[in-house]
Amino acid sequence: MTQLKSEIAKRGVRIIDLGIGSPDMPPASHVQTAFQNALKDPRVFGYATTEGTEEFRSAAANFLESRYGAKVDPDTEVLTVMGAQDALSHISVAVVDPGDVILIPDPCYPIYEVTALLVGAIPYRMPLRKENNFLPDFSAIPSDILHKAKLMILNYPSNPVTAVATHSFFAEVVEFAKQHEILVLHDAAYIELTFDGRTSPSFLATPGAKEVGIELHSLSKTFNFAGPRLAFAAGNREILSALRIVKSNIDYGVFRATQLAGTVALKEHPETHITHVRKLYQARRDAFLQPLQEAGWEIEPSLATMFIWLKTPNHMKSREFSRQLLEKTGVACVPGVGFGPEGEYYVRFALVQSEQILQEAAKLIAAAF
Ligand SMILES: Cc1ncc(COP(=O)(O)O)c(C=O)c1O
Repeated sequence: MTQLKSEIAKRGVRIIDLGIGSPDMPPASHVQTAFQNALKDPRVFGYATTEGTEEFRSAAANFLESRYGAKVDPDTEVLTVMGAQDALSHISVAVVDPGDVILIPDPCYPIYEVTALLVGAIPYRMPLRKENNFLPDFSAIPSDILHKAKLMILNYPSNPVTAVATHSFFAEVVEFAKQHEILVLHDAAYIELTFDGRTSPSFLATPGAKEVGIELHSLSKTFNFAGPRLAFAAGNREILSALRIVKSNIDYGVFRATQLAGTVALKEHPETHITHVRKLYQARRDAFLQPLQEAGWEIEPSLATMFIWLKTPNHMKSREFSRQLLEKTGVACVPGVGFGPEGEYYVRFALVQSEQILQEAAKLIAAAF
């Protein structure tokens, strides 16, 4: 798709790129100022530490408790990481052996499969289907897979299906994980991007969660902080310690100026910024959906995230639809099959343009198919 996008752009067609979910807005102004001020301190330019600054880890622990009621010890139960991607790509090195199984959702964010392949582990896809509220059906996992399963990766609110999980589902996850001795990694990258007044629970607020797993909280989407690369992993101290050891051999920690600015983002009125970001994506979602709904397309409004997960018309395969869409309209999306076989016949649009452009894109789509 990237190549086709540039070919079409060279023909002079205007591309409306709704492919990658990279926020198009800057962090809040007080966070930008904190970043600028941090750069004036010569000490930030030295090596950082693998686990991250005490200030950032404490801010992370307080954020978890105040927003989700999840209690963690900042010294032993929080690890600073270079974005959720860092933890996702290294978790398999930390806790999985070749031949182990990693249970992953289908469809899912692609690194979940890749992290398994990187260490010779076997990804096992758990289908996320509408009839099951896009939650995995644990009873459908064969027993030989369960015997080999070492780690399960979950993601709510989920990319790309935009579903939200419940406390009772997470309680089921804890019980299942304990019963089958499976570690859990819950990727909460979109936990704050919820719509229509709903909230999304933290896995770590579930009794027993810290005994089996960790949760990833990224500043990329919530705080428009994707470039600086900052997230934290929290929860089970043994898992975090293993991840820390892997990372101590790979990097020297997140740039301290980034951590200083991230601490400010987590500590200073995060709710004001979060309310703003939620409203922004919800308005964009509605702007995009309106022309399609008016044209008779059946679309489930996203419950959360910064995406629209759209069923292709006339049972078109996702790559074919994406290609035709780009050729006919200049609108770029991601074919659903790229997130796993269950994503076939769907495409994902990222709400990373203004309401006006999104509405224009949706009108073009409605007119073209
Ligand atoms: C589900 C999910 N997890 C993790 C990431 C990566 O987050 P980060 O920028 O913190 O590495 C993304 C980015 O799109 C994502 O969609």
